[in-house]
Amino acid sequence: MAASVQRNLKIVETETPADVLGRAKANDLAVRVRGLTRRFGEREVLKDLDLDIAPGEFVALLGASGCGKSTLLRILADLDREMIGEVEVPVRRAVAFQAPRLMPWKKVWRNVVLGLPGRPDGKRALAALQEVGIGHRADEWPKVLSGGEAQRTSLARALVREPDLLLLDEPFAALDALTRIKAQELVGELWQRHGCAILLVTHDVEEAVLLADRVLVMKDGVIAHEERIAMRRPRDVADPAFARIRGDLLDWLGVRHGKHHND
Ligand SMILES: Nc1ncnc2c1ncn2[C@@H]1O[C@H](COP(=O)(O)OP(=O)(O)O)[C@@H](O)[C@H]1O
Ligand SMILES: [Mg+2]
Repeated sequence: MAASVQRNLKIVETETPADVLGRAKANDLAVRVRGLTRRFGEREVLKDLDLDIAPGEFVALLGASGCGKSTLLRILADLDREMIGEVEVPVRRAVAFQAPRLMPWKKVWRNVVLGLPGRPDGKRALAALQEVGIGHRADEWPKVLSGGEAQRTSLARALVREPDLLLLDEPFAALDALTRIKAQELVGELWQRHGCAILLVTHDVEEAVLLADRVLVMKDGVIAHEERIAMRRPRDVADPAFARIRGDLLDWLGVRHGKHHND
Protein backbone atom coordinates (compact mmCIF):
# COMPACT_ATOMS: atom_id res chain seq x y z
CA MET A 1 0.00 0.00 0.00
CA ALA A 2 1.26 3.43 -0.89
CA ALA A 3 -0.30 5.38 1.95
CA SER A 4 1.93 5.04 4.97
CA VAL A 5 0.55 7.76 7.18
CA GLN A 6 -2.82 7.52 8.75
CA ARG A 7 -4.21 10.02 11.15
CA ASN A 8 -6.78 9.50 13.78
CA LEU A 9 -6.91 12.44 16.11
CA LYS A 10 -10.15 12.35 18.00
CA ILE A 11 -10.97 15.53 19.79
CA VAL A 12 -13.01 14.47 22.78
CA GLU A 13 -15.57 16.97 23.97
CA THR A 14 -15.12 17.56 27.67
CA GLU A 15 -17.59 19.12 30.05
CA THR A 16 -17.19 22.09 32.33
CA PRO A 17 -14.64 21.49 35.13
CA ALA A 18 -17.36 20.65 37.68
CA ASP A 19 -18.67 17.92 35.44
CA VAL A 20 -15.23 16.60 34.60
CA LEU A 21 -14.63 15.68 38.22
CA GLY A 22 -17.73 13.56 38.27
CA ARG A 23 -17.03 11.99 34.93
CA ALA A 24 -13.44 11.28 35.84
CA LYS A 25 -14.71 8.81 38.35
CA ALA A 26 -16.68 7.12 35.62
CA ASN A 27 -14.37 6.21 32.76
CA ASP A 28 -13.11 9.30 30.98
CA LEU A 29 -9.48 9.95 30.31
CA ALA A 30 -7.84 13.28 29.63
CA VAL A 31 -5.42 11.60 27.23
CA ARG A 32 -5.70 8.26 25.51
CA VAL A 33 -2.98 7.24 23.06
CA ARG A 34 -2.84 3.86 21.35
CA GLY A 35 -0.27 2.54 18.94
CA LEU A 36 1.26 5.93 18.25
CA THR A 37 4.07 5.82 15.71
CA ARG A 38 5.91 8.82 14.30
CA ARG A 39 8.68 8.57 11.75
CA PHE A 40 11.04 11.19 10.43
CA GLY A 41 12.29 9.68 7.20
CA GLU A 42 13.65 6.25 8.06
CA ARG A 43 13.86 7.04 11.74
CA GLU A 44 11.05 5.81 13.95
CA VAL A 45 10.97 8.16 16.92
CA LEU A 46 7.71 6.98 18.49
CA LYS A 47 7.08 3.25 18.17
CA ASP A 48 3.62 1.99 18.89
CA LEU A 49 3.38 4.08 22.02
CA ASP A 50 0.47 3.85 24.47
CA LEU A 51 -0.36 6.44 27.09
CA ASP A 52 -3.30 7.23 29.38
CA ILE A 53 -3.64 10.31 31.53
CA ALA A 54 -6.57 10.65 33.91
CA PRO A 55 -8.47 13.92 34.21
CA GLY A 56 -6.68 16.15 36.69
CA GLU A 57 -3.64 13.90 36.84
CA PHE A 58 -0.17 15.45 36.93
CA VAL A 59 2.21 13.38 34.82
CA ALA A 60 5.88 14.11 34.27
CA LEU A 61 7.76 12.73 31.28
CA LEU A 62 11.50 12.07 31.49
CA GLY A 63 13.82 10.73 28.85
CA ALA A 64 17.20 11.26 27.23
CA SER A 65 17.59 14.23 24.96
CA GLY A 66 16.32 13.40 21.47
CA CYS A 67 14.23 10.41 22.58
CA GLY A 68 10.98 11.91 21.32
CA LYS A 69 9.40 13.77 24.25
CA SER A 70 8.70 16.95 22.31
CA THR A 71 7.51 14.90 19.36
CA LEU A 72 4.88 13.31 21.60
CA LEU A 73 3.89 16.62 23.13
CA ARG A 74 3.51 18.28 19.74
CA ILE A 75 1.22 15.49 18.61
CA LEU A 76 -0.92 15.85 21.75
CA ALA A 77 -1.06 19.59 21.10
CA ASP A 78 -2.18 18.88 17.51
CA LEU A 79 0.85 20.72 16.16
CA ASP A 80 1.93 17.60 14.27
CA ARG A 81 -0.45 15.29 12.45
CA GLU A 82 1.99 13.10 10.53
CA MET A 83 1.51 10.08 12.69
CA ILE A 84 -0.03 6.65 12.84
CA GLY A 85 -2.23 5.59 15.72
CA GLU A 86 -5.01 6.86 17.91
CA VAL A 87 -4.81 10.01 19.96
CA GLU A 88 -7.64 11.34 22.09
CA VAL A 89 -7.21 14.65 23.83
CA PRO A 90 -9.63 17.23 25.27
CA VAL A 91 -10.76 20.11 23.10
CA ARG A 92 -9.49 22.54 25.68
CA ARG A 93 -5.78 22.15 25.91
CA ALA A 94 -2.89 24.56 26.06
CA VAL A 95 0.86 24.37 25.62
CA ALA A 96 3.82 26.20 27.10
CA PHE A 97 7.31 25.67 25.75
CA GLN A 98 10.79 26.20 27.09
CA ALA A 99 11.04 29.45 25.17
CA PRO A 100 8.03 31.61 26.06
CA ARG A 101 7.40 32.58 22.40
CA LEU A 102 5.88 35.98 23.07
CA MET A 103 5.11 38.35 20.22
CA PRO A 104 7.55 41.24 20.74
CA TRP A 105 5.25 43.81 19.11
CA LYS A 106 2.35 43.08 21.45
CA LYS A 107 2.10 44.19 25.05
CA VAL A 108 2.30 41.46 27.66
CA TRP A 109 -1.46 41.39 28.31
CA ARG A 110 -2.22 41.14 24.59
CA ASN A 111 0.14 38.20 24.32
CA VAL A 112 -1.86 36.45 27.03
CA VAL A 113 -5.17 36.62 25.16
CA LEU A 114 -3.68 36.33 21.67
CA GLY A 115 -5.66 33.93 19.54
CA LEU A 116 -8.70 33.79 21.80
CA PRO A 117 -11.98 34.40 20.02
CA GLY A 118 -13.59 37.83 20.33
CA ARG A 119 -12.06 41.18 21.22
CA PRO A 120 -8.87 41.12 23.31
CA ASP A 121 -10.14 41.03 26.88
CA GLY A 122 -7.83 43.09 29.09
CA LYS A 123 -9.55 42.11 32.33
CA ARG A 124 -9.23 38.45 31.59
CA ALA A 125 -5.57 38.86 30.67
CA LEU A 126 -4.90 40.82 33.85
CA ALA A 127 -6.60 38.21 36.02
CA ALA A 128 -4.43 35.48 34.49
CA LEU A 129 -1.28 37.57 34.93
CA GLN A 130 -2.21 38.28 38.54
CA GLU A 131 -2.68 34.60 39.12
CA VAL A 132 0.90 33.94 38.09
CA GLY A 133 2.12 36.89 40.16
CA ILE A 134 2.94 39.44 37.45
CA GLY A 135 -0.19 41.56 37.14
CA HIS A 136 2.01 44.65 37.39
CA ARG A 137 3.74 43.72 34.12
CA ALA A 138 0.56 43.63 32.02
CA ASP A 139 1.30 46.85 30.15
CA GLU A 140 4.96 46.17 29.44
CA TRP A 141 6.58 45.03 26.22
CA PRO A 142 7.82 41.42 26.35
CA LYS A 143 11.45 42.47 25.89
CA VAL A 144 11.62 44.12 29.31
CA LEU A 145 10.53 40.97 31.15
CA SER A 146 12.98 38.77 32.99
CA GLY A 147 13.21 35.12 31.94
CA GLY A 148 11.04 34.08 34.87
CA GLU A 149 8.43 36.75 34.07
CA ALA A 150 8.32 35.75 30.42
CA GLN A 151 7.78 32.15 31.44
CA ARG A 152 4.98 33.21 33.80
CA THR A 153 3.40 35.14 30.93
CA SER A 154 3.54 31.98 28.90
CA LEU A 155 1.80 30.11 31.74
CA ALA A 156 -0.84 32.84 31.99
CA ARG A 157 -1.44 32.51 28.25
CA ALA A 158 -1.98 28.79 28.70
CA LEU A 159 -4.25 29.15 31.77
CA VAL A 160 -6.46 31.85 30.28
CA ARG A 161 -7.68 29.13 27.93
CA GLU A 162 -8.97 27.17 30.93
CA PRO A 163 -7.49 23.96 29.61
CA ASP A 164 -8.51 20.47 30.65
CA LEU A 165 -5.04 19.42 29.54
CA LEU A 166 -1.93 21.54 30.01
CA LEU A 167 1.13 20.47 28.04
CA LEU A 168 4.44 21.82 29.32
CA ASP A 169 7.66 21.21 27.41
CA GLU A 170 10.65 21.86 29.68
CA PRO A 171 9.12 25.15 30.76
CA PHE A 172 11.71 25.88 33.44
CA ALA A 173 14.83 24.58 31.75
CA ALA A 174 16.17 28.02 30.84
CA LEU A 175 15.56 29.58 34.26
CA ASP A 176 18.16 30.06 36.97
CA ALA A 177 17.88 27.77 39.99
CA LEU A 178 15.94 30.08 42.34
CA THR A 179 13.54 31.29 39.67
CA ARG A 180 12.99 27.69 38.67
CA ILE A 181 12.06 26.64 42.20
CA LYS A 182 9.51 29.45 42.40
CA ALA A 183 8.10 28.60 38.99
CA GLN A 184 7.78 24.93 40.00
CA GLU A 185 5.89 25.91 43.14
CA LEU A 186 3.63 28.09 41.05
CA VAL A 187 2.81 25.28 38.65
CA GLY A 188 2.00 23.02 41.60
CA GLU A 189 -0.39 25.64 43.02
CA LEU A 190 -2.00 26.37 39.66
CA TRP A 191 -2.55 22.68 39.08
CA GLN A 192 -4.22 22.25 42.46
CA ARG A 193 -6.45 25.27 41.84
CA HIS A 194 -7.43 24.53 38.23
CA GLY A 195 -7.63 20.76 38.43
CA CYS A 196 -6.50 20.26 34.83
CA ALA A 197 -4.44 17.29 33.73
CA ILE A 198 -0.80 18.20 33.15
CA LEU A 199 1.86 16.54 31.06
CA LEU A 200 5.18 18.06 32.02
CA VAL A 201 8.22 17.21 29.93
CA THR A 202 11.37 17.77 31.93
CA HIS A 203 14.94 16.55 32.11
CA ASP A 204 15.02 17.29 35.82
CA VAL A 205 14.28 14.14 37.84
CA GLU A 206 13.84 16.13 41.05
CA GLU A 207 11.30 18.41 39.42
CA ALA A 208 9.36 15.40 38.20
CA VAL A 209 9.26 13.77 41.64
CA LEU A 210 8.40 17.03 43.39
CA LEU A 211 5.40 17.75 41.21
CA ALA A 212 3.93 14.69 39.56
CA ASP A 213 1.42 12.00 40.52
CA ARG A 214 3.17 9.73 38.08
CA VAL A 215 6.54 9.91 36.36
CA LEU A 216 7.09 8.29 32.98
CA VAL A 217 10.41 7.39 31.43
CA MET A 218 10.53 7.34 27.66
CA LYS A 219 13.03 5.12 25.91
CA ASP A 220 13.28 3.64 22.44
CA GLY A 221 10.08 5.31 21.35
CA VAL A 222 7.82 3.98 24.09
CA ILE A 223 7.01 4.61 27.73
CA ALA A 224 9.55 2.21 29.20
CA HIS A 225 8.78 2.78 32.86
CA GLU A 226 6.32 4.50 35.11
CA GLU A 227 6.54 5.37 38.74
CA ARG A 228 3.58 6.42 40.83
CA ILE A 229 4.54 9.00 43.42
CA ALA A 230 2.37 8.50 46.47
CA MET A 231 4.26 10.92 48.73
CA ARG A 232 2.16 13.69 50.24
CA ARG A 233 2.66 17.24 49.05
CA PRO A 234 4.54 19.46 49.57
CA ARG A 235 7.36 16.98 49.03
CA ASP A 236 10.76 17.15 50.58
CA VAL A 237 13.84 16.27 48.55
CA ALA A 238 15.52 15.26 51.82
CA ASP A 239 12.87 12.58 52.47
CA PRO A 240 14.47 9.08 52.11
CA ALA A 241 11.49 7.98 50.02
CA PHE A 242 12.21 10.85 47.66
CA ALA A 243 15.85 9.84 47.32
CA ARG A 244 14.88 6.25 46.59
CA ILE A 245 12.45 7.19 43.83
CA ARG A 246 14.93 9.63 42.34
CA GLY A 247 17.57 6.88 42.35
CA ASP A 248 15.27 4.41 40.62
CA LEU A 249 14.39 6.93 37.95
CA LEU A 250 18.04 7.82 37.36
CA ASP A 251 18.69 4.10 36.90
CA TRP A 252 15.94 3.91 34.33
CA LEU A 253 17.44 6.89 32.57
CA GLY A 254 20.76 5.08 32.48
CA VAL A 255 22.43 7.64 34.71
CA ARG A 256 24.76 6.20 37.29
CA HIS A 257 24.12 7.01 40.90
CA GLY A 258 24.60 5.69 44.43
CA LYS A 259 27.39 3.63 45.96
CA HIS A 260 26.67 0.35 44.24
CA HIS A 261 27.28 1.93 40.84
CA ASN A 262 30.17 4.19 41.57
CA ASP A 263 33.21 2.12 40.86
N1 LIG B 1 10.66 17.91 12.23
C1 LIG B 1 11.60 16.99 12.38
N2 LIG B 1 12.25 16.48 11.31
C2 LIG B 1 13.20 15.51 11.45
N3 LIG B 1 13.56 14.98 12.63
C3 LIG B 1 12.96 15.45 13.73
C4 LIG B 1 11.95 16.48 13.67
N4 LIG B 1 11.52 16.73 14.93
C5 LIG B 1 12.23 15.92 15.73
N5 LIG B 1 13.09 15.16 15.02
C6 LIG B 1 14.00 14.14 15.56
O1 LIG B 1 13.26 13.27 16.39
C7 LIG B 1 14.01 12.93 17.53
C8 LIG B 1 13.23 13.28 18.77
O2 LIG B 1 13.16 14.67 18.89
P1 LIG B 1 12.44 15.38 20.11
O3 LIG B 1 11.07 14.84 20.22
O4 LIG B 1 12.57 16.84 19.91
O5 LIG B 1 13.32 14.88 21.34
P2 LIG B 1 13.29 15.32 22.87
O6 LIG B 1 12.23 16.36 23.03
O7 LIG B 1 13.03 14.07 23.65
O8 LIG B 1 14.65 15.86 23.17
C9 LIG B 1 15.32 13.64 17.40
O9 LIG B 1 16.26 12.77 16.87
C10 LIG B 1 15.04 14.76 16.46
O10 LIG B 1 16.18 15.10 15.74
MG1 LIG C 1 12.31 18.33 23.61
